[in-house]
Amino acid sequence: MIQLSGKPLITEAEIRARIGQMVIEIARDLQRQELLIIGILRGSFMFTADIVRVLYNNDMHPLIDFVFVTSYAGMESTGEMKLLREPSLNVEGRWVLIVDDILDTGRTMKYAQDFIKERGAEEVRSCVLLDKPGRRLVDVHADYVGFSIDDVFVVGYGLDYEGRYRDLPYLGVLEDHPAA
Ligand code: XMP
Repeated sequence: MIQLSGKPLITEAEIRARIGQMVIEIARDLQRQELLIIGILRGSFMFTADIVRVLYNNDMHPLIDFVFVTSYAGMESTGEMKLLREPSLNVEGRWVLIVDDILDTGRTMKYAQDFIKERGAEEVRSCVLLDKPGRRLVDVHADYVGFSIDDVFVVGYGLDYEGRYRDLPYLGVLEDHPAA
């Protein structure tokens, strides 16, 4: 039986504090550029919103767009990437910061980086809340990483299991318990 662990893996306060630190790094590196943030739906919606709010408090006012990339069914990646929504803003000549929830096999981020570069972005940087370095199948890295975690299935704060748990304000672990 799939169950949410009783204890958060990463609390709401820890997420908030880490985002504050990440935005300081992003502002230090990218403040002089007009930034286009491209969030990868659906998992990054909460993270992207929180980053943008903290950027605002650091006097950064990026353009914001979303793409919809999908590869997952249940807890395993199918490996097949699909772009279900193109960016609506032109990325040509822009400094783009891709925001995703989690870097797992790396396929989604590599796919997103490639198509944004193909559309003529001048600079492409990436930011993920979570990184599972042990799961990487594709050679890709993120410039800004919130937390590196072990190979556990995480839900909450935008991440789901079959559509559920996205609304949790913290990150929890989904555990597979043998039926009693
Ligand atoms: P890849 O393998 O392309 O994966 O780097 C990135 C996408 O996979 C999903 N993913 C997860 N979703 N809990 C989730 O809810 C997880 O532990 C997890 N690991 C990967 C996620 O949608 C991410 O954008």
